[in-house]
Amino acid sequence: MSSGNEPGAPQPPTEAELAEMDRDQLVKLGTSLDGVEIVDYPKPWPVEGTRAEKRAERLVAMWFALSAVAGLAFVVALIWWPWQYEPPEQSSAHFWYSLYTPMLGLTLGTAITALAVGVLLYTKKFIPHETAVQERSDAGGAGSPEVDKKTIVAQLAHSGNDSTIARRSMIKRTAGLGAGVLGLGAVALPLAGFVRDPWKNSENKDSLWHTGWQPIDGETVYLRRHTGDPEEIVLVRPEDLDAGAMETVFPFRESERGDHHALSVALKRSDNPVMLFRLRPADADKVVKRKGQEDFNYGDYYAYTKICSHVGCPVSLYEQRTNLILCPCHQSQFDLLQYAKPVFGPAARALAQLPITVNDEGYLVARSDFVEPVGPGFWELKA
Ligand code: FES
Repeated sequence: MSSGNEPGAPQPPTEAELAEMDRDQLVKLGTSLDGVEIVDYPKPWPVEGTRAEKRAERLVAMWFALSAVAGLAFVVALIWWPWQYEPPEQSSAHFWYSLYTPMLGLTLGTAITALAVGVLLYTKKFIPHETAVQERSDAGGAGSPEVDKKTIVAQLAHSGNDSTIARRSMIKRTAGLGAGVLGLGAVALPLAGFVRDPWKNSENKDSLWHTGWQPIDGETVYLRRHTGDPEEIVLVRPEDLDAGAMETVFPFRESERGDHHALSVALKRSDNPVMLFRLRPADADKVVKRKGQEDFNYGDYYAYTKICSHVGCPVSLYEQRTNLILCPCHQSQFDLLQYAKPVFGPAARALAQLPITVNDEGYLVARSDFVEPVGPGFWELKA
């Protein structure tokens, strides 16, 4: 926009004249100062109240209303849809659980799309489609003069007024509702995580304070294999592993035998997978143990969480020759001979070690839960 000081251009009015002008005059002044000529300015609905106009208004309002309904559905789904894991065998519960993420995507996507379509349709059907011609100006400078600021505001208000938004209360209400509910969704998103207090019932076995390895009421927690069938219980004895071998194991309690749901959850819970290693005798002699965790191993057997301490990927690439455990996500490497401390990559903490032993029956069992955060963890926040 130019200030109109070129030779031959209309002179800007004085401040007193400017204050006297109404909006139409300011619009005309603004266009002439900018050297803009409006060639055509057709009103979208020259005759008010026609059926076509009302139909167009209802169409726009319908999209905004759809956006509001979808936005509300998003908030409801985010907070109340069943989100906790259910095993496939519980077919009905599993079905609803499996729809949680698609539901969030569907409702939020519909809310945003409907709002966008409403705005596009409103622009297309109610904003005048003027044809204007303007000389190109290369003038630059710091800030716009007062006259330019006032006239551009008038022009914007004029366009808004000519779009007849002032008398279209249905569109205004539904647009406000759609945008408002979407705003509510944006607020609910970060707040939803606080709806359930992770600190509450901290002794509960499902709380975030524990993993599935926590002994409950003194019951033994065995190391078991995952054979693909949750109900096929295969416990692990030391002699089951060759020297230099690694195996992924999960927690098992006798009280859960035959309980399909509990067994499935134990195999699925994200902080349960543990890597059980049997070191070769020559390597076992070189082990450096972590202070305070000198008795967490059983002979040559060491158990570490499979969850990377960086951002929680499964670290299951074990190179026997170098005794390094590699996380495929960001290439962190952990040295098995030095309490799985990181020796390369972005991980900053050692993998948590599970204290293990062998019980009277000769099976490998956990002596307690982990004593530090598993994965990126949140236990640190307690301090
Ligand atoms: S999650 Fe393992 S290195 Fe990033």
